[in-house]
Amino acid sequence: MVNVLVIGSGGREHALSWKLSQSSKVETVFTAPGNGGTENNVPISVDDLDGLADFAQKNNCFTVVGPEDPLAAGIVDKFNKLGLRVFGPSRQAAQLESSKIWAKDFMKRNEIPTARFEIFDDAQKAQEYVKSLDYNVVVKADGLAAGKGVIVCNSNDEAISAIQTILVNKTFGDAGNRIIIEERIDGIEASYIALSDGDIAIPMASSQDHKRIFDNDEGPNTGGMGAYSPTPIIDDNLAKIIQEEVIEKTIHAMKKEGIVFKGFLYAGIMIQDGKPYVLEYNVRMGDPECQPITMRMDFDLYDYFVASVDGTLSSLPPATWKSQSAVCVVLASKGYPEAYSKDDEITGFDSVPEGAIVFHAGTKKSGEKILSNGGRVLGVTALGDTLQSAITNAYAATDKIIWSQKFHRKDIGQKGLSYL
Ligand SMILES: Nc1ncnc2c1ncn2[C@@H]1O[C@H](COP(=O)(O)OP(=O)(O)O)[C@@H](O)[C@H]1O
Ligand SMILES: [Mg+2]
Repeated sequence: MVNVLVIGSGGREHALSWKLSQSSKVETVFTAPGNGGTENNVPISVDDLDGLADFAQKNNCFTVVGPEDPLAAGIVDKFNKLGLRVFGPSRQAAQLESSKIWAKDFMKRNEIPTARFEIFDDAQKAQEYVKSLDYNVVVKADGLAAGKGVIVCNSNDEAISAIQTILVNKTFGDAGNRIIIEERIDGIEASYIALSDGDIAIPMASSQDHKRIFDNDEGPNTGGMGAYSPTPIIDDNLAKIIQEEVIEKTIHAMKKEGIVFKGFLYAGIMIQDGKPYVLEYNVRMGDPECQPITMRMDFDLYDYFVASVDGTLSSLPPATWKSQSAVCVVLASKGYPEAYSKDDEITGFDSVPEGAIVFHAGTKKSGEKILSNGGRVLGVTALGDTLQSAITNAYAATDKIIWSQKFHRKDIGQKGLSYL
């Protein structure tokens, strides 16, 4: 029996902790720093790499890294140097996410399908370039910007002001020292996530996020307002194309370039005319996609994490998935993604129907009470025999949760239904 340390404090980390604690090989799952829903919380922040390593060492932990920041900071390299077992990509491998420019260049030289692009550090030249194009563009800050560094433009004027925002006003700090200007691809977006050991990659179940704050994909982008799995948007044929042309190509090209990619590889995909284009890579699970995906896992996730670290994924049986659909509705604090209040009491957890799981994100415990502590607060997740019944079950559970600032989308999963 081993202990596991899950690093992070979101709904993703609650879901990972929940799943890992079901493994017969796992003794105790610690979460650092965790939230109001996770057990065995350890008050060490995700950027305190020394503190985390020290805890993992003293408690004999296998560590699982949830979010991108510690991966980009090299937590895996650090743990490996200390002889600690840790699931996730090295700092070099994490560049697929931590530098969008690095990722675009990588895709270009390895012929992985992505939107055409140019790179700029000079605002004047960037603006001239935009004026010379006869298509709409997306302007992206190079570095990590907590999901805010991408501006999808509807006109030249919008593109010029986006260049100003990122490159001149430095709204995202040094993450915007360089920008990508790429062609806007209009299509349908979906997430494709695989688990790699550096040699092979096994697909996770397909899923779709809902990024905008309001129903019908209106309003500003958020961290994600809900997700469901599987998504009919990625049928078997398309899954095969993405697996071969994107995921396997990426893993093999990384290896050829001397970088072993271990961990979750997430491709944000835009599908246009049946063809996939990579919008970006993430080097970890998506949040909220993790919640419905985890709920459908019919295998011991701990075994797969160990095999990723050891490079032995090919010796495991194929990952099997519950045939049911899963839907996660994110409950946010009113005002998110702008300003919102904290410390509001949330009730109703005991009335949630059996089978549904309320994954916590921005919550904290205060005595017996659960208080809000972030923009995205809870992820109510439920299974159902069909996508429609999973939607019904997730919303029935959502209705039981009560707090004054509760806000959620009413149409999670509808995009999938319209495809069936
Ligand atoms: N080339 C593109 N064409 C159309 N939309 C895009 C393009 N690139 C990004 N987007 C949109 O912007 C969102 C955020 O971009 P992404 O590259 O995923 O960065 P991040 O998640 O780091 O903010 C995507 O989910 C997608 O909706
Ligand atoms: Mg993204």
